[in-house]
Amino acid sequence: MTLNIYKLYTANQSRIQKNIAEDQTLTGGRKIARRGGELRFIAGSNAKLAGMILESVTAENFRNLSGSVHCGHGLNILIGLNGQGKTNWLEAINVLATARSFRTARLQEAVRFGEDSAAVAGRVLRSEQVSRDLRVAIGGRAKSLFVNGKQETARGYLNQLHSVVFNSDELEVVRGQPEARRRFLDESIISIHPPYVQTVNDYARVIKQKNALLQSIQDRGTSGESSAAQIETWNAQLVGLASRIHRSRLRYVERLNDVLARQLFGPESVSIRYESSLEPHGDLSEYDALLDERLKVRFQAEVAAGYSLIGPHRDDLELLLEDRDVRKYGSAGQQRSILLLIQLANLEVYFSQNGEYPLFLIDDIDAELDHERIKSLLEHLAGRTQTVVTTSKESFVAEFGQNAAIFDVVAGCARPREGSRETAVPAV
Ligand SMILES: Nc1ncnc2c1ncn2[C@@H]1O[C@H](COP(=O)(O)OP(=O)(O)OP(=O)(O)O)[C@@H](O)[C@H]1O
Ligand SMILES: [Mg+2]
Repeated sequence: MTLNIYKLYTANQSRIQKNIAEDQTLTGGRKIARRGGELRFIAGSNAKLAGMILESVTAENFRNLSGSVHCGHGLNILIGLNGQGKTNWLEAINVLATARSFRTARLQEAVRFGEDSAAVAGRVLRSEQVSRDLRVAIGGRAKSLFVNGKQETARGYLNQLHSVVFNSDELEVVRGQPEARRRFLDESIISIHPPYVQTVNDYARVIKQKNALLQSIQDRGTSGESSAAQIETWNAQLVGLASRIHRSRLRYVERLNDVLARQLFGPESVSIRYESSLEPHGDLSEYDALLDERLKVRFQAEVAAGYSLIGPHRDDLELLLEDRDVRKYGSAGQQRSILLLIQLANLEVYFSQNGEYPLFLIDDIDAELDHERIKSLLEHLAGRTQTVVTTSKESFVAEFGQNAAIFDVVAGCARPREGSRETAVPAV
């Protein structure tokens, strides 16, 4: 997830109820999946899933893609040679869910070379009776979002389909700097508690203003009383916001720990822990008082540095394997595994909050993971999430493809493979 993986927005429950009511009126309670002789997948053995199902996705002028994918309800495998469009299909699905790309902040880059606009459309089943048609239209400058043909605001649109992406960019969470882990935590919290975004933004604003002030005090070469008073005003705001962030992150890591499938990839002990930068300095159960004290003690140091040294923007998430920092000592496969464990825990937390799992998108599933780990992962996901994975290896399909819907991706087109378990058939 160029971290945006986890831009999930939880449904406002009353809104969902309203939309369902609208859909039922629209459909007259009929099973939409059976309408118009369109293709759909017969559910395989792992198809009894709670919550949203992506039934189909269609790409129009989106990168090199053409046509549609009619998804199986369990495991879907996109297989193809390098550069054929497998990751592009995952990106398209993710755009449909989040209205954003995990590859680029400029969605316009996804418009096919030489074209002016693109779109991704899809149908999501919310239950057997209720489906929604989603569409993200990408113009030269702006994007427009549609639900059942009606233009929607981002807020209304983002309630419809949730997805979690696992790709090599996401590994920054394990391999990168603390900032990547803080962002990951914050985005995960936002996915189950959207108002938290305000706290994070307010805190970032306070830090920015305080930094500007510290910088100007440094430039003027004075830290007299009036400067101290100004800083104190910012610090008062900072303490309130910081303690909310501290508590939210602590609680979220506790929730992750509660559902962490520790033994999934073997007996190695896995531990995750929120690490406050104030830890060495006193009693964290009195967080506000401790932070307040540290801000006072470190006032001169902050002026000398010209930026804020104290607060949760200096915290980290500790990831340990056999009590050792996995970032420094873990192998590539172990780093991938621990991130997968955290992502799976994230899916569980999301499920416990919303009663449904997000769609799980895994790019290059067999990169760096051995056969045993892939097997454990897929067994864990079966019956939980609707999953779309990509691979370039036939051996992966031979080994794990029995219950999957398999698509051969060639030059952007995803063709259902004859004889794959969840075979596309015309609906009756
Ligand atoms: N805006 C665009 N318009 C048209 N084609 C594009 C655009 N952006 C990327 N492409 C094409 O998409 C292809 C890459 O697709 P993608 O990254 O999905 O491949 P892949 O199947 O995942 O390959 P790999 O196995 O190497 O990961 C390239 O051929 C590239 O030229
Ligand atoms: Mg790829």
